[in-house]
Amino acid sequence: MAPLLLLLLFATASISLVGADNPSPEIFLTLCGTTKTSNPQAFDINFVNSMELIYQNITVRGHGLAVSGTSDTVFGIGQCFHYLSAVDCQLCYAESRVKLPHCLPATDSRIYLDGCFLRYSDRNVSTQATDSKDTSICRNSSVMISSKATLTGLLANVTAAALNDSQYYAAASADVSPGLTVYGMAQCWKSLNVSGCRDCLEKAAMNVSGCLPASDGKALNAGCYLRYSTDPFYLTPASGGGGSSSRKALAVALGCVAVAVVVIGVAIWWMRRRAANESCDEEDGSGEIIRSISKSHLSFKYEVLCKATDDFNQMHKLGHGGYGSVYKGVLPDGREVAVKRLFFNTRQWVDQFFNEVSLISQVQHKNLVKLLGCSVEGPESLLVYEYLCNTSLDKFLFDSFKKTALDWERRFDIILGTAEGLAYLHTASEVRIIHRDIKASNILLDERFRPKIADFGLARYFSEDQTHLSTGLAGTFGYMAPEYIVHGQLTEKADTYSYGVLVLEIITGKKNQNSVATSAEGHSLISLIWKHFTEKTLIELLDPHLLGQCSEEQALKIFHIGLLCAQSSPSLRPPMWKVAEMLMSKSQDLPLPTQPPFINIKGADVRSEGSVTSYKYSSSSKSGHSVNPMSVSTLQGR
Ligand SMILES: *[C@@H]1O[C@H](CO)[C@@H](O)[C@H](O)[C@H]1NC(C)=O
Ligand SMILES: *[C@@H]1O[C@H](CO)[C@@H](O)[C@H](O)[C@H]1NC(C)=O
Ligand SMILES: *[C@@H]1O[C@H](CO)[C@@H](O)[C@H](O)[C@H]1NC(C)=O
Ligand SMILES: *[C@@H]1O[C@H](CO)[C@@H](O)[C@H](O)[C@H]1NC(C)=O
Ligand SMILES: *[C@@H]1O[C@H](CO)[C@@H](O)[C@H](O)[C@H]1NC(C)=O
Ligand SMILES: *[C@@H]1O[C@H](CO)[C@@H](O)[C@H](O)[C@H]1NC(C)=O
Ligand SMILES: *[C@@H]1O[C@H](CO)[C@@H](O)[C@H](O)[C@H]1NC(C)=O
Repeated sequence: MAPLLLLLLFATASISLVGADNPSPEIFLTLCGTTKTSNPQAFDINFVNSMELIYQNITVRGHGLAVSGTSDTVFGIGQCFHYLSAVDCQLCYAESRVKLPHCLPATDSRIYLDGCFLRYSDRNVSTQATDSKDTSICRNSSVMISSKATLTGLLANVTAAALNDSQYYAAASADVSPGLTVYGMAQCWKSLNVSGCRDCLEKAAMNVSGCLPASDGKALNAGCYLRYSTDPFYLTPASGGGGSSSRKALAVALGCVAVAVVVIGVAIWWMRRRAANESCDEEDGSGEIIRSISKSHLSFKYEVLCKATDDFNQMHKLGHGGYGSVYKGVLPDGREVAVKRLFFNTRQWVDQFFNEVSLISQVQHKNLVKLLGCSVEGPESLLVYEYLCNTSLDKFLFDSFKKTALDWERRFDIILGTAEGLAYLHTASEVRIIHRDIKASNILLDERFRPKIADFGLARYFSEDQTHLSTGLAGTFGYMAPEYIVHGQLTEKADTYSYGVLVLEIITGKKNQNSVATSAEGHSLISLIWKHFTEKTLIELLDPHLLGQCSEEQALKIFHIGLLCAQSSPSLRPPMWKVAEMLMSKSQDLPLPTQPPFINIKGADVRSEGSVTSYKYSSSSKSGHSVNPMSVSTLQGR
């Protein structure tokens, strides 16, 4: 038994190296302002843009500042505490970004999480060090810190060290009494100057020492964060901790080996047990679950998949999606599969995850990628999908050379097939599924360029904490429906919006800029299309590769349907079954589309109309008129 235990320990150790499970960071404090913005719609959009701009820098350097909008301006500031790894910083930021919008339409709000800080305001607060909302939180517990002198000494030390640090960060520990260590940490936002940082930390140190003798105190100020605790909170086992890829590769290799050994060990042990006693009672349920799962035809063995992908060799990497990297693999029976290594470990909820997988595997349609099964018993969780040889739509559509493979007929089939697949997910399948991440790279193509939607269903499982979703969200901004980004409102119509963007990309052969800056400036594909639509010159935007392959009428119809799907107001977007119907019908009167979101109409004449906002978020006939000479108001009743 002892060697087996050792092996298990070894395996567990490699598990924690490979896939540290990332629980959402705790929220310490949310402060929503009391003043409300007078123009929530414009403010919301600027808010989203600012959050996106912060995302671009916080993930790289742990700090991000942003300003968006010329009127109803939103300033933003985000800061990760320097002890977080890059991945944890991203997760923490994602979590804060999901939670902070609950404060809207307040004009100034901030949130402190266990690891990061995020604030938006209608004023430039990037150099604000302290304000009246500064506060401290003390945790009461049975452990008491008796030596005030040591604690103040420690806080003074981390304050001094942080001021002298390029990241404005310092952490240290000291023994307060025999056997009791207290850990201290100071972090100023990087946008402060040294004197601001000093003011802030000194105030924080003063306040937080008021927590004594409590074993944990945090000061949450406008420009800094200071904490002491008897927990070594900043020494969290670095999950990847900026770990080099070679270390990771080693860990994975170790993982593969360890698991193989363990599996053999367990097999031997299991056979012995079986031989000894057929009806032996099991102490805990987890073995039971894994065993019943491994009997299922949906279960794949980890080491088989390791081998099929050549130990996840980079050469076989197909790309990565919202949930993990995908590798091509060849099973022992010669079947080609795509193996997805999930970023998120599902070991805590193996049974739930497996239920989800078996549910999704029952959702079958010609335009959906088939989920063949999963592996949950190894050090990381894997999903196994059917392999499609032509990879994904983006690889063709946005490549000037490969694009020629997509003629009009194929593009139309892709547009129609995707609509049918989505309609099936939304209505026809037993489990109603909202995809949430429709984009060109999630449309896979088979050998005859028929489309199959990838990556559906799992969002249901992972959505409990939206963190992970919003991590993906940041990457696919250009496809996200506005009501979903700002308020997290999720209906099938969010998919319809993304689909609309996709259709417009397919017909123009251009990528919708997913940089916020460009879309706010009105340079995005959608705003370009809208401009040409109002000027009745849409046909100029047709992908030149399609010239002569279709009639003008056919092309305009696709543009039209794309615009209908990408309207600001979810209720105006047609359901996907309706979209499929529109595509197939020979002649049909389509309603006029209203303006899509994220379009900043510049120019004094527009602003001087007063009530017309600089963008249109939820559609109203008023601003519809201002850009579109055609009457849109007749549509409102639909
Ligand atoms: C991000 O950092 C770069 C380099 O320091 C800077 O040029 C850019 O303006 C920053 N962007 C934001 C949004 O802070
Ligand atoms: C915010 O204020 C600081 C200091 O006053 C200044 O350096 C910075 O440029 C301002 N930022 C913006 C976007 O106005
Ligand atoms: C530091 O920033 C504060 C707040 O913006 C400002 O009042 C102060 O003059 C600055 N100090 C120095 C030395 O730049
Ligand atoms: C904090 O804990 C101490 C000792 O455990 C107890 O006497 C005190 O009432 C607690 N205070 C609060 C506010 O819970
Ligand atoms: C503070 O720093 C000084 C100098 O490095 C050191 O001697 C002292 O022990 C530290 N005090 C505490 C409480 O850590
Ligand atoms: C500040 O840091 C530098 C090196 O980074 C070091 O030489 C210096 O002694 C430090 N000063 C203080 C006051 O800690
Ligand atoms: C924080 O300290 C300031 C003075 O340093 C004091 O006025 C304020 O009441 C303190 N606040 C808390 C919550 O302890």
